[in-house]
Amino acid sequence: MDTPKRVLVSRQFPEIGIELLARAGFELTLWQKDRPMYPSELADLSMNHHALLCTLSDMITKPFLQQCSHLEIISQFAVGYDNIDVDEATRLGIPIGFTPDIMSEATADIAFGLMIATARKMFFLHKTILAGEWGYFKPRGNLGMELRGKTLGVFGLGRIGMKMAKRCKDAYGMEIIYHNRHPNPRAEKELNAAWVSFDTLLAQSDVLSVHCVLSAQTRGVFNWDVFKQMKPTAIFINTARGPIHNEPDLIEALCSKKIWGAGLDVTDPEPMAKDNPLLSMETVCVLPHVGSGTLEARNGMSRLAAENIIEFYQTGTLPHVVNPMALGRKKNELP
Ligand code: GLV
Repeated sequence: MDTPKRVLVSRQFPEIGIELLARAGFELTLWQKDRPMYPSELADLSMNHHALLCTLSDMITKPFLQQCSHLEIISQFAVGYDNIDVDEATRLGIPIGFTPDIMSEATADIAFGLMIATARKMFFLHKTILAGEWGYFKPRGNLGMELRGKTLGVFGLGRIGMKMAKRCKDAYGMEIIYHNRHPNPRAEKELNAAWVSFDTLLAQSDVLSVHCVLSAQTRGVFNWDVFKQMKPTAIFINTARGPIHNEPDLIEALCSKKIWGAGLDVTDPEPMAKDNPLLSMETVCVLPHVGSGTLEARNGMSRLAAENIIEFYQTGTLPHVVNPMALGRKKNELP
């Protein structure tokens, strides 16, 4: 690079990606605080940078993009990008990079773990020990449910959904049904998965696991009308994005026994308030959005996010791009 490009790095991402960028000759501004930047801080700092390396806690809104239309690339450290107004970025010719697949195993483990933890009331039982309530062995108490031979319904059978489905099939011989906009022939061949209508997914799933993106179409899909069509013995798992379910409706569905349990790695809002009724329910397990939280996945995400920036400046394209239509479009320069 003749004049080094300046990259604003919005959080403390794993070293591996930062080192790659530094070695490739980029000038880096590293945000050192533990908290995300406030929108005004993000906008002010972005003003004199060519590229932004950010993540899901950074709100890349239309006003931000219009103010920072000089940005040449935004590289997101996450597979999801619902924090970014992609249409506006595309209109302004700003390519968005993301980090798919590298965190699919880690996230599927969390979905699978939450399923078992919920079926066996693990988080609740842990709390009874902390409360000094272990007491005697109870032949009829603390009973959960087994998963062998049950039906897993996947809403959004893509990269992560496939890995969750494979775990459920291999471990418990679960039947796999799914609802997608488009059929997934690979899942049908490898997992004997069957595409079903949304209504059938609700009616037949013993465990219903959400793996779709958050979009205008999926926001609030799992609401009261939907929960009440599910089996009263069903477990709802969401490791995708909190706003895909309506939280007050989920609480109501659990309280009125429309469904049996829920395992959540994502909530709405995040962070969840510590007095949220879900946290004291026997058949609910909640985690603080840690789906990709393994050393392997986070290092991989850091590397992919850096490679997206490096390759963009070397070749004009990105290995993992959300909006290819933005590539090569004319746009504003650094003010
Ligand atoms: C995590 O939620 C991600 O989108 O990578």
